[in-house]
Amino acid sequence: MDKQRNATLNVDGKSIDLPIYSGSIGPDVIDIRSLYAKTGMFTFDPGFVSTAACKSDITYIDGDEGVLLYRGYPIEQLAMKCDFLEVAYLILHGELPNAKQKGEFDSIIKNHTMVHDQLTRFYSGFRRDAHPMAILVGVVGALSAFYHEAMDISDEYHRTVSAHRLIAKLPNITAMAYKYNAGQPFMYPRNDLSYTANFMHMMFGTPCEKYEPNPVLVRALDRILILHADHEQNASTSTVRLAGSSGANPFACISSGIACLWGPAHGGANEACLNMLEEIGDVSRVGEFIKRAKDKDDPFKLMGFGHRVYKNFDPRAKLMRETCHEVLNELGLQDDRLFKLAIALEKIALEDDYFISKKLYPNVDFYSGIVQRALGIPVKLFTGIFAMARTVGWIAQWNEMIGDPEQKIGRPRQLFTGATQRDVIAMDKR
Ligand code: ACO
Repeated sequence: MDKQRNATLNVDGKSIDLPIYSGSIGPDVIDIRSLYAKTGMFTFDPGFVSTAACKSDITYIDGDEGVLLYRGYPIEQLAMKCDFLEVAYLILHGELPNAKQKGEFDSIIKNHTMVHDQLTRFYSGFRRDAHPMAILVGVVGALSAFYHEAMDISDEYHRTVSAHRLIAKLPNITAMAYKYNAGQPFMYPRNDLSYTANFMHMMFGTPCEKYEPNPVLVRALDRILILHADHEQNASTSTVRLAGSSGANPFACISSGIACLWGPAHGGANEACLNMLEEIGDVSRVGEFIKRAKDKDDPFKLMGFGHRVYKNFDPRAKLMRETCHEVLNELGLQDDRLFKLAIALEKIALEDDYFISKKLYPNVDFYSGIVQRALGIPVKLFTGIFAMARTVGWIAQWNEMIGDPEQKIGRPRQLFTGATQRDVIAMDKR
């Protein structure tokens, strides 16, 4: 047995030992759980830049090397060799399915694709121009009101059924958000189609004629879903875990993840990136925007650039760049204005000292917006597509947390900098 390693911390002359643990790969961690009891002090780590909040078996990222593994498998291989439901099975169960398991999983998900008819009524409560993410936060949270019979989170079977329901219904709920915006009738799912082809049918089909999804475009969207399926303990996943740590139901937890994902520093970046490209408008204006991005007094950032973890390249961005070419070729859009602008922006930024020294590279969202736009997905729905994919990761991480015997309610502490105790003075004396 390996000898227990310790880190020794000297606090005001008193020395304490804290155990060090190793994972299967990645940085070791120092267990600081006894720190407060031993020293009366907390650690201070806003933004959790040096804090491992949990143990997890699901996803591993090496930001320096540009590595992303789901259950040990490189994202490049999964994106080339698997479809989204295969990857979803892997993320949920830990192993890739064999043909029988895959067939059964596909069929379970298909069994849950319809939503309760009453749920469709929620949509009419929203303004027609409501942001799809606002609709998703509300409607996914509202699923909590439909499945009381299977919401005992201590029951593994109930947790599994909830995971299947969420994965199966998110495409329907997302497509309905689009249809509601567009003023078109909701489309029932078609269970003869694959997960992603069915989503495209619910998005782009109408009751007037049969919609035949283009396999190249289905594959491209499927790849976007695979690339976004999980990403370790990012902001939205941590939100789902924190919400779930109190025992909240899975639908409410996923809804909280959707709310977090909506922010422009996270999943909202693909929408913000495309809006930025529209604002730049022309290659001749790239220099002006690069200058703004470098100006400390200007809050403008190059959307789609930079990542908290990837500091050399984002492996998903590389795959998305290839997919971008495939889709634009298929659609005869090789000369797409925004794609050309994106390429010019990427080239100039990658040669600029500011971006080199701060290790700012294009992230997955830099290209995913261009692909989605070419597929006919409206910009406002980009983050909704991301939420649909990430639901797999969120629910797997939530399930892992609930099943962890060491799990506790999440309760960070603080460094208090406000007023110390004082007395209330009567209004007429203030
Ligand atoms: N454009 C210009 N400067 C940037 C950018 C950018 N996109 N990103 C970071 N910087 C600068 C910061 O101003 C900071 O400069 P300073 O050292 O002079 O203060 C330095 O680079 C470090 O940046 P931080 O914000 O501290 O890095 P952090 O790891 O906290 O943030 C983040 C990462 C939020 C992704 C950031 O790079 C960003 O806002 N990028 C644009 C939004 C985006 O594309 N988000 C998508 C993330 S991927 C995803 O969610 C799927």
